[in-house]
Formats: sequence, C-alpha cells, structure tokens
Amino acid sequence: MSDSVKPLYSEAEIGERIIAMAKDIAKSGKKEMVVVSLLKGSFIFTADLVRALSDCGVRLQVEFLGLSSYGNSTQSSKKVSIVQDMKTEIVGKDVIIMDDILDTGRTLHFASNLLRDRGAKSISVAVMLEKPGKRVVSIDADYIGFTIPDRFVVGYGLDYAGFYRELPFIGVLQQH
Ligand code: PRP
Repeated sequence: MSDSVKPLYSEAEIGERIIAMAKDIAKSGKKEMVVVSLLKGSFIFTADLVRALSDCGVRLQVEFLGLSSYGNSTQSSKKVSIVQDMKTEIVGKDVIIMDDILDTGRTLHFASNLLRDRGAKSISVAVMLEKPGKRVVSIDADYIGFTIPDRFVVGYGLDYAGFYRELPFIGVLQQH
C-alpha cells in the first residue's frame, strides 16, 4: 500500500487565513494572553498564529499541553489523556487554546475543562480546521481557519501514524 496527499489548502491560502484570524482575535481587545498550544498537531499552526498576533500588538506567553486521543490510526478512540503537562500558572489569565483540528470535540472539551478548573479568567479557542457534524461533545471554536469535509487530512502539523506533519500545505490522505 502507498500513500499520496492531494492538496486542499496551499501554503499561501493558509497564510492569508492566519493573518485574518489574528486580526479577529486582536479585535477582542485583550492585550495580553496565554497561548495553550495542544501538542503535537498544533505546533506549526501555533508558530504562525503567535507571530501574526504579535504583528497585531498582542502580548503573549506560549505554553504547550500534550494531549492524545487517536493513537496510530485514523479512528478516534474515546479517551483523552495528558501526555505532557504545561508549566505556566494560568490563574486569572486570559487563555487562548490553539489546536490544529476540531473533530469530535473531545480534545478541546477536555482541555477547556482542565484550564477552567485551573483558574483561567477566560478561555477562547482557535482551530485551523473544523469538521462540522462530527461533534460527540458540545464545544465550538471561537476562531476557525477552514471548515472542511469529513476526509482524513494531513500536513501543517496533522499526521498519519506520525508522518506528514512537516508538509507546508494541508491535504487529503489517499491510500492506494
Ligand atoms: C488530534 C488533533 C486534535 C484532536 C481533534 O490530536 O491534533 O487535537 O485530534 O480530535 P477530536 O476533536 O476528535 O478530539 P491527536 O490526539 O491525534 O494527537 P496529536 O495532536 O499528537 O496528533
């Protein structure tokens, strides 16, 4: 079996959306935020969005929270677990969670509850991709890059069995 990746969004299209999202986030009026980037998938999205936010004059602290629910398959399992915890104190702070994709919602639901329990003053959510109609728990993102069909996508941080995260574009994985 061999894989190929059919491009869905180019590097340039992604770049334009990132700038637009940063402007939207900056419109909230928050001058300082703690970014909680959900590893591993959001590392590239976060790197781009924090720099765009900086260009919009928002001051940031950046933290990473390693969560996992998929394992090495295209099927979502039910349990979300912390595989790497964050270190920054978030009590009383405005937090923005950044994740690569919102699918069943389990990951963001878990992250959002965790950060609320830890005392965040406010929590907003930015995702690069969202699959509508797939939610098994009720959660929405405040800022969305692209709404996509229910296909298995890779690139721009998203993986299949750990591969393809480094692709600068987002594409649909095709297995032959
Ligand atoms: C993926 C993705 C999101 C989550 C979305 O993470 O990065 O965090 O699944 O799915 P959900 O809405 O159904 O919870 P994954 O657990 O594969 O870990 P990874 O980021 O390390 O690839």
